[in-house]
Amino acid sequence: MKKIVLFASGSGSNVENIVNFYKENEKVEILRVFTNNPKAYVIERCAKLNIECTVFGRKEFRDNLVILDELRSINPDLIVLAGFLWLIPSDYIQSFPQKIVNIHPAMLPKYGGKGMFGQHVHEAVVQNGEKETGITIHYVNERYDEGQIIKQISCELKSTDTAEDVASKIHELEYTHFPLAIDELLNKD
Ligand code: GAR
Repeated sequence: MKKIVLFASGSGSNVENIVNFYKENEKVEILRVFTNNPKAYVIERCAKLNIECTVFGRKEFRDNLVILDELRSINPDLIVLAGFLWLIPSDYIQSFPQKIVNIHPAMLPKYGGKGMFGQHVHEAVVQNGEKETGITIHYVNERYDEGQIIKQISCELKSTDTAEDVASKIHELEYTHFPLAIDELLNKD
């Protein structure tokens, strides 16, 4: 059995999509969801989906590394960041080399870096009159959005697209391609 854990900070629609993708799969288990945000909607989604959800603060994440200890005891095959907004400390990266992946709602290196997440990205894309955008699935390193790129999928934009239109195009790409990319990574070795 392959084990996945997920990290999310907000709505968690990607979490729900990934959980549903693996619902009937007996070879892959979504063991737990971690969130840094006690108000995140992902907590309600987990309750409905019957997935354990752990809420943590900065102290447990980066000071006493309680969360790292929990991950070590779970020993997941893949740690998936699905809308998780904190930087991952290097202890985690070193403990799980090539096992932490993130999704970013743009074609990195464009629209990456600190503060570039969710709606901020879509607004910048529209403001700059981009003709296309897309998603990037990448390994996580110690810097925001700079880890090795695994896969990018682009989509066209219309000059009339609003940030909300861009967001829905991006989500559509994410829902189709993120679970497939995760599955490819799990089956790599
Ligand atoms: C997703 O679009 C994801 O690409 C983005 O946050 C959204 C989370 O949506 N991630 C980042 O911006 C990371 N820098 P969700 O909570 O509905 O899955």
